[in-house]
Amino acid sequence: MAVGFMQNHVRDPELIARAQAGDKPRNLKVLPADLSRDSVVTIMRFTVASGLGVTCGYCHGAPDVPFDSIDFASDERQTKRTAREMRTR
Ligand code: HEC
Repeated sequence: MAVGFMQNHVRDPELIARAQAGDKPRNLKVLPADLSRDSVVTIMRFTVASGLGVTCGYCHGAPDVPFDSIDFASDERQTKRTAREMRTR
């Protein structure tokens, strides 16, 4: 589990930028729903960079899913749900 989890610990800015491509965000409950995907990823990068000390894969994706294929709208990860609750408090 720990090994697979590490696969999503991506710090490559180009890969992260690619997460910005595509449709509007589909599953925003805390952030304003009309934010562009670009803005959401900028906020995400800020979150990641600002001392949480984690990467995108901490809240998104699954052990066997390559970064390119992560479904960022999925609420499967407990860490994402927890992060959302923290923002609503
Ligand atoms: C600390 C946990 C956490 C980390 C780390 C994190 N995210 Fe998120 N992400 C969230 C939460 C929570 C939401 C949902 C926000 C909401 O409900 O308004 C979200 C939503 C998103 C969405 C919108 C998905 C959709 O279609 O609704 C994208 C895209 C996204 N994140 C990309 C990233 C990228 C890229 C990174 C790494 C740079 C990252 N996230 C790191 C918690 C995280």
